[in-house]
Amino acid sequence: MKSIYLDNAATTKIDNEVLKSMKPYLEEFYGNPSSVHIKGQETKKALENARRVIAESINAKSEEIYFTSGGTESNNWALKGLFFKNYPKKNHIVTSKIEHDCVIKTCKWIEKNGGKVTYLDVDKEGFINLKDLEKSLTGKTFLVSLMHANNEIGTLQDIENMGKICKNKGVLFHTDAAQTYTKIPIDVKKMNINLMTINSHKIYGPKGVGVLYIKEGIKIEPLLHGGGHENGLRSGTENVPGIVGFGKAVEISKKINFQKISELRDSLITGILTNIPKTNLNGPVGEKRLPTNVNISFGGAEGEALGAYLENKGVYVSTGSACMSNTNSESHVLKAIGLSGKEQDSSIRFTLGKETKKKEISYVLKVLPGIVEKLRMGEVINN
Ligand SMILES: Cc1ncc(COP(=O)(O)O)c(C=O)c1O
Repeated sequence: MKSIYLDNAATTKIDNEVLKSMKPYLEEFYGNPSSVHIKGQETKKALENARRVIAESINAKSEEIYFTSGGTESNNWALKGLFFKNYPKKNHIVTSKIEHDCVIKTCKWIEKNGGKVTYLDVDKEGFINLKDLEKSLTGKTFLVSLMHANNEIGTLQDIENMGKICKNKGVLFHTDAAQTYTKIPIDVKKMNINLMTINSHKIYGPKGVGVLYIKEGIKIEPLLHGGGHENGLRSGTENVPGIVGFGKAVEISKKINFQKISELRDSLITGILTNIPKTNLNGPVGEKRLPTNVNISFGGAEGEALGAYLENKGVYVSTGSACMSNTNSESHVLKAIGLSGKEQDSSIRFTLGKETKKKEISYVLKVLPGIVEKLRMGEVINN
């Protein structure tokens, strides 16, 4: 039985080198990094090394890197932490209709607690209009939170110019870079990013570790109170093995050939669009698309069934975002780019990774047309 994993946006398989780097911190180096004795200092050193590696990778200072439990916590913290700091003087956040659920739901919570949120529209490829962004900012706006790349359709936003607009208006800019970190170069200074969310399990590191980058001088309330870890802003004994693994994953990410991955991505897109009728690509083409993302609507074939048939052939894909697929609700992203309910239901996301092989893409292209045809015939019979 084949196993072709094309769900790397949901999570990636931990790299062997990462696993190896973590092992000593699960076995012999178990000290609490807050302890002053040697056992604590050994782990403290490893923690600070990972912090430095991550800081350097985005042109930040080590003191600007705060370890969290992942992307969800980092996004919650950025939004709620700044809301608590600014409310009631300023109460307005600008975000978009295609953000990850952990941003959208945090915004909904903020609205229930006295905040105001503008959800910017996107065009049919998922791009935010910069003029709309500029117009949405008011004297009450304390934060703009817009993702770098969308996790469902791979649209890469022009965050550098978004950062510039925010800077000119004196508004803080946060970006969720969970899908782009190490894939697309990020320079927080050049891009005027004030806060940024990244995580480890999307880049062949362990799950349950993330970072919130917070530019020096920004005042934010902690989400978790306690022993005063992470400069008093994020309490809780640090996940040392996870953080060490995160650092290693960043180090070895330099070896990944994203040009090759984007070529495989394009061969999958072209193969599907030319060989299977009534198919549409969701999201943009070329450089403005995440190198790893393919999202296609297979008009008339049901996406969930398509996913199940592919799984039967050993191919693992997803319908929309993994975090949503167990809630069975529609995709707010596909809806925002104008897809009808039926088109949304017929969509599949394939996300490639560093281990994806040309022959795996060829195999998918070989089995897909038959599956789609079968499902479409089924639909005709059922109707
Ligand atoms: C864009 C984006 N933001 C945030 C998250 C949440 O990250 P985590 O799974 O680390 O909580 C994800 C992961 O699904 C994501 O794709």
